[in-house]
Amino acid sequence: MDGPILVIDRGTERRIGAQLVEGLRRGILGGALRPGDPVPSTRALASELGVSRSAVVAAYEQLAGEGYLELRQGAPTRVAELAETDPDAASRHGWRPPTRASRPSVTIRRPVEEKVEPRIDLRPGRPSTARIDTRAWRSAWRHAAALEIPSDSPPPFGVRRLREEIADHLRQARGVACDADDVVVTAGTSEAVALVASALLLLGDDGRDDVTVAVEHPGYPSARRTIERRGARTVPVPVDADGLRVDLLRRMPRPPRAVMVTPSHQYPLGGRLPVSARLALLEWAREHGAVVIEDDYDSEFRHLGPPLPALASLDVGASVVLVGSFSKVLTPWLRLGYLVLPADAAFRDAVSRLRDDEPGPVAGVVQEAAAALLASGTVRRHIAVTRRDYAHRRRLVIDALDGIPGAPLSGLDGGLHAVVRLPDHGASEAVVARLAREGVTVAALAEYSAVPGETEPGIVFGYAGAGDTQLAEALALIRAAILDVT
Ligand SMILES: Cc1ncc(COP(=O)(O)O)c(C=O)c1O
Repeated sequence: MDGPILVIDRGTERRIGAQLVEGLRRGILGGALRPGDPVPSTRALASELGVSRSAVVAAYEQLAGEGYLELRQGAPTRVAELAETDPDAASRHGWRPPTRASRPSVTIRRPVEEKVEPRIDLRPGRPSTARIDTRAWRSAWRHAAALEIPSDSPPPFGVRRLREEIADHLRQARGVACDADDVVVTAGTSEAVALVASALLLLGDDGRDDVTVAVEHPGYPSARRTIERRGARTVPVPVDADGLRVDLLRRMPRPPRAVMVTPSHQYPLGGRLPVSARLALLEWAREHGAVVIEDDYDSEFRHLGPPLPALASLDVGASVVLVGSFSKVLTPWLRLGYLVLPADAAFRDAVSRLRDDEPGPVAGVVQEAAAALLASGTVRRHIAVTRRDYAHRRRLVIDALDGIPGAPLSGLDGGLHAVVRLPDHGASEAVVARLAREGVTVAALAEYSAVPGETEPGIVFGYAGAGDTQLAEALALIRAAILDVT
């Protein structure tokens, strides 16, 4: 056949397989396909329609079972003789064959802007969970489930055992001199940021009418929105290849009440704040009584160069709130994170008042299970194993995408995502849209801008969440899409 009338509508809930069967059946009953006509090979039709070959195979098999098609070993599949001679078939399917004169034209249409189901999700922020030690995981949950069931909410700052384990982890992994009393368990970074913003608002800003928080530009969009929704104002501060431009922060006429930074791996561009800039930032914060919110979201995964000390470990008299998360080291499925309080008594008191009114959102049983995972060494071992996996995936990214003229690759010294700059926004949009049509989800760098209208062209994608094979497939598609626009 030249092709039956087949339009796969991706805007509906109807499954692709069902649409294929219906479209072909309609073509046969309507006369667009006549008995004896060959139908396209499953491979050709799948590629024409942008659907999986297995969906086409299943559709042909179903139609053969219904008597519409004849599948013959070693010969092309054909429309069965029976179909046109079965007068009831059409009415059974609510379809009246058009007359020959009105036979619709036989084109296969594939709308360009269709939404394709994402097959490979490379949105930044997704870790690999494939190597989580499931025996240890199950054992931690069994342990948590077997504990006595209290009649109270968990303590406002979290279950003691978990706070102790987190403090231990931070002392060992990040050199932060903290103990359990300094740790507050949160529902991930997002809730920690909301809590800090609320605490800042509760404390006020020395009589000024609004509380401002400096944020990185480009930077983490949801943290920015969380801070704003809590009622504080965000002020963008540009970043460069090293991270936050501390010199620009220093030049602000009115110093903000707080600054949120990702010093170990600037999100999303990937810079690592040098020690001199770290010290300058803390000096500025101390001078102005500003709070530094250190988002330490993926420091466990450093691929190049030694990890630099956390801001919270540099004791120079500034107020630093370290925010950490289990989203990258285990999975965001847990919704578990923490913050480490600064020495500042007023800030601690504000957080305490908030937690008294709004008890911690993390269920006690989740906290107990997480404490057991930390205590058994599962988290530490998982970090070591995934670090090697991620180093390998990072290599796949470099092999596929490094050195394309006009499309520099960056952000890969640490963490789980990469950035490719592109020549202009048209190119970025074309790459993101083309990949979406091919079932690969990546983000546009423009989404991270903290200044409306001031965006950089490029794409951002995570390389941890997809398996090696999927990643290799996606990288080939990304490369082809980039080569097409550069
Ligand atoms: C910059 C940054 N911080 C923190 C997180 C973790 O957020 P959460 O703990 O709320 O899952 C992410 C996740 O993608 C992130 O990109």
